[in-house]
Amino acid sequence: MQRATQTALCNWSQLVGPAMLRQCCRGPLQRTSRAYSAVPPPRDAEEKEMLHQILRVDHAGEYGANRIYAGQMAVLGRSRTGPLIQEMWDQEKKHLEKFNEILADNRVRPTALLPFWNVAGFVLGASTALLGKEGAMACTVAVEESISEHYNSQIRTLMEKDPERYTELLNIIKEFRDDELDHHDTGLEHDAESLPGYWLLKNAIQLGCKAAIYVSQRV
Ligand SMILES: [Fe+2]
Ligand SMILES: [Fe+2]
Repeated sequence: MQRATQTALCNWSQLVGPAMLRQCCRGPLQRTSRAYSAVPPPRDAEEKEMLHQILRVDHAGEYGANRIYAGQMAVLGRSRTGPLIQEMWDQEKKHLEKFNEILADNRVRPTALLPFWNVAGFVLGASTALLGKEGAMACTVAVEESISEHYNSQIRTLMEKDPERYTELLNIIKEFRDDELDHHDTGLEHDAESLPGYWLLKNAIQLGCKAAIYVSQRV
């Protein structure tokens, strides 16, 4: 597939949904190398602030997701659901590694709340896993839906500002958004909704995610 066609399809896919074109959007990121930064040097203080906020909150989200899956594995690692959770965790490790790299390359300060997300993420993962496989999956659905919506709003912002300038960053965010949607779908496929009190738990977790996103951009 030609690169231009592929890019056009990827741009379209972020508007219409990920399922059809996930594989298409994986192409550009796989070609990303360390030869250049994923983020352009900021033109002014305003752009610097915007990019740093985006990178800081994304790094915090991936860090928190890693801690949630660590908490789930501490409880369910030896169960039949263990390999499934491990598979999602392995992808989160790659996401976090990428944002660690981007933060270092661009001298972006991580959120000061990492020690808090370390504990809060683990406790959330472990406590929902104590409700059983369905609890862990309900937590996954709630968190992954919040993260993918958050990535979608960043994609919209960057597309409105300058899609050419932010191509590399957009490719990374789109790929990770698609992975988060896969995790969300996995949770649904593995009985998240059969947890008693599913909607209550989901809403409570998503309220927490919104608060986490708000403060991690700023602190
Ligand atoms: Fe992730
Ligand atoms: Fe995820």
